[in-house]
Amino acid sequence: MRDDLQAAVAEARVGDRLWLYATYHCNLACVYCLTESSPRIAARRELPAETLLRAAREGRELGFRSVGVTGGEVFMLRDFPETLVELSGILPTIALTNGMLFTERLLARLEPLAELDAALQISLDTADPAHNDRLRGPGNFTAVVDALERLRDRGITVRIATTVEDQTENELADLCQLHRALGISDEDHIVRPVVRRGRADVEGLGVDPEANEILPELTLTADGAFLNPFGPTVRHGRTDLDLLVGRQILPLEVSLSSFLRAVDDLPTGDDVVRNIR
Ligand SMILES: C[S@@+](CC[C@H](N)C(=O)[O-])C[C@H]1O[C@@H](n2cnc3c(N)ncnc32)[C@H](O)[C@@H]1O
Ligand code: SF4
Repeated sequence: MRDDLQAAVAEARVGDRLWLYATYHCNLACVYCLTESSPRIAARRELPAETLLRAAREGRELGFRSVGVTGGEVFMLRDFPETLVELSGILPTIALTNGMLFTERLLARLEPLAELDAALQISLDTADPAHNDRLRGPGNFTAVVDALERLRDRGITVRIATTVEDQTENELADLCQLHRALGISDEDHIVRPVVRRGRADVEGLGVDPEANEILPELTLTADGAFLNPFGPTVRHGRTDLDLLVGRQILPLEVSLSSFLRAVDDLPTGDDVVRNIR
């Protein structure tokens, strides 16, 4: 691992995962979406497959231990299943998805993931289908439960991510019962608050995170390199640049240096509570 990255990881100043924003295009338009993604988004801000793969290869050389791919909805990209399989052969990879697009054909293309260090993290906000679908979109609850079952049947690792705005404690407890019944453990269930950025900010939803609540993790997008995966948000169609660390993303050693310079002044140690992920 590059010495400066190793030192920063050892101090828990930064994480060792490299995040890639593959596209901002999406088939849903969730009420709180931090990237203002939707089927009609004007700028898709895609990163070509070659860029994703090059970033992962260079990341492995520099000492990153895993890759996270997000968007937008990554499965809106035609070749994404094959790209994900290739990425997972380079470094352990997790892809974040809304779980709406898992046809039998797509599942067949994803089958190699069962043999690789790969996981799909699917969003599901509550065990109340009507409430879930108000937050995320019509038909989302049923599609996600179905996708979780069919992916697990194929031996593909699945996780669940829950974004909390106005769910009750009981709803969240019911959701935990549901994911356990589906064979998904508590460790594979992530819960986070809505962060007040992007559409959430426009709609007056969510919380303003403190600077130290989110672990810095180098995040690459078509607009540049950012401090963490909650950085490259979009508000009224424009990318927020407050957490941009540099415009150049590759070679990765360049964006890694910009990133490590940016984290130099941030707090670290026991006072830091990383509770948003
Ligand atoms: C932006 S989405 C991209 C991946 C995929 N489309 C999905 O929804 O899972 C990644 C994760 O961020 C969550 N998310 C979206 N807007 C958020 C916000 N304002 N605050 C916190 N999390 C948010 C989503 O619920 C999802 O779990
Ligand atoms: S949260 Fe995910 S699924 Fe929902 S609009 Fe945003 S990118 Fe699409």
